Amino acid sequence: MSTAPLLRVTDLSVTYGVPRRGVGLGTGAALRGASLEVYPGEIVGIIGETGSGKTTLARATVGLTAPAGGTIEFDGRDLTSLRGRELRKFRRQGRIQLVFQDPLRSLDPDLTVARLVGEPLEVAGGRDTTRGERIDRALREVGLDPGVVRDRRPRDLSGGQRQRVSLARAIVTEPQLLICDEPVSALDVSNRNLVLNLLDRLRRDLGLAVVIIAHDLSSLAGIGDRVAVFYRSRLVEQGNLHEVLTRPAHPYTALLVASAPSLGERSAIRPDDVRLDREVAGAADPGGCVFADRCRFAFADCATQPPLLEVGERWSAACHIAARWPDEISENTPIRTGNTGTLTKGDR
Ligand SMILES: Nc1ncnc2c1ncn2[C@@H]1O[C@H](COP(=O)(O)OP(=O)(O)OP(=O)(O)O)[C@@H](O)[C@H]1O
Ligand SMILES: [Mg+2]
Repeated sequence: MSTAPLLRVTDLSVTYGVPRRGVGLGTGAALRGASLEVYPGEIVGIIGETGSGKTTLARATVGLTAPAGGTIEFDGRDLTSLRGRELRKFRRQGRIQLVFQDPLRSLDPDLTVARLVGEPLEVAGGRDTTRGERIDRALREVGLDPGVVRDRRPRDLSGGQRQRVSLARAIVTEPQLLICDEPVSALDVSNRNLVLNLLDRLRRDLGLAVVIIAHDLSSLAGIGDRVAVFYRSRLVEQGNLHEVLTRPAHPYTALLVASAPSLGERSAIRPDDVRLDREVAGAADPGGCVFADRCRFAFADCATQPPLLEVGERWSAACHIAARWPDEISENTPIRTGNTGTLTKGDR
């Protein structure tokens, strides 16, 4: 594997304009200081519960949403410095492609499959006498028979077929990076595995890097080289998928692993290690760790945002005790200060 990342997102923030309805209401931060690395030819899973900023990260990476801060380097180029014509040109080239979360809504219902798959090539412009051939090749690549589906419209396809059309549309420009926003959430288990295996094969056959966004670890079904876990618009951990599943470095990741039974068996983490302090999270301290109000290991330092700490090779976690947890912290010695069960004002 090459040592230079294909995509390096550093400290990315995205803020949506939220109408102020009185003093104290902040703007909507959809992403806060998110960092992510994707190396050529690898599959990276992005895991996070609903509203944690996954789609926002994907949209910002392809240039559909302007970041408020941070950098996005792709193949050595800083995309956040591209403006106007340069940005449009980069997007037209289709070197990063996004497969949207909802294929039925993102595919124009009036267009045939051939038009839908050919559209990115039209956008890229230039005379291309091989367009029809490229469309058919992309369709075959995703396991669809061009002769059967070419003239159909999205409503005449099954959910799994629509997902494949979205994929064909994304790979037709021969991108280096494919970002799939929840490609399997709407599919049943058998279709889910077919699509994940297909992504794995596309990565191998076409040599592209693939980012798979999902709600939970189990929907990755063990496919992927690395994983990035988001919680409340922040990256909490990223690392090798196998290592993270076996020995999560962040208490939130540990919670996810422990609550995915089939994965938990492989892990050194037992559900008891990570039981929550409180089932329902309160309002996160804007300056502190996003998980602190649910974490039984939280202590005074957690009122300040932990930096991403290296815990291994290409493995980091945003937790003050990442490198020490859980070995040095026995179940009987919670490190919270005070006995209120939450951080008190005095701790901050
Ligand atoms: N266009 C928008 N305007 C205002 N707020 C938005 C907008 N899009 C997203 N948000 C907010 O930003 C946050 C992150 O949203 P995002 O769609 O990135 O989450 P997600 O992780 O993709 O969630 P899901 O798993 O439900 O798809 C949420 O709080 C969401 O309400
Ligand atoms: Mg989303």
